[in-house]
Amino acid sequence: MDKKEELEKLKKEMEADKSLPLYEAANLVFGEGSPDAEVMFIGEAPGFHENKFMRPFVGQAGKLLDKLFVMINWPRESVYITNVVKRRPPENRDPLPEEIEAYKPYLKKQIQIINPKIIATLGRFAMNYFLPDFKISQSHGKGVILRGKIIYPLYHPAAALRATAILKELENDFKKLPALLKNYDNVKIKK
Ligand code: URA
Repeated sequence: MDKKEELEKLKKEMEADKSLPLYEAANLVFGEGSPDAEVMFIGEAPGFHENKFMRPFVGQAGKLLDKLFVMINWPRESVYITNVVKRRPPENRDPLPEEIEAYKPYLKKQIQIINPKIIATLGRFAMNYFLPDFKISQSHGKGVILRGKIIYPLYHPAAALRATAILKELENDFKKLPALLKNYDNVKIKK
């Protein structure tokens, strides 16, 4: 099976898993992009538009993300985009710890299949999934090596839409991505 087929299989497993929280309440937003992506972007959970179109980051935050990809000349299709929790929590409330826990095995498998070099986390929930005690205000834009990958915390684009100072930080951190990827093989990583 190639990566695309493995991802399809995983998606079907998720669709059939009635034990997952929010199963009845919302559509599955599995994720999209290149199965061979070197960089994976992971957000928190789908919102209204994502639930409607069953695609990640297609609302206002997604539009900003698209602009950031244009800024660094990375086609959106060349990366992989998904979320920690893959169904929309009601009224866009924060995902609950038990929801994050329940979706964890699927995200883990998705990462295993794609096997990216860099995992760019969008917002604190995705960052804390990998780096539980980190604070986003201190950690954004600084790569951390974890199990052979660089975890690269970024502010959530929705936060950047609410505050110009955050937007500037997010743009600056995004601009560092191409060099981070280029240097990946030179970074001493115990794989
Ligand atoms: N916010 C997220 O965290 N994920 C999405 O897919 C959209 C908005």
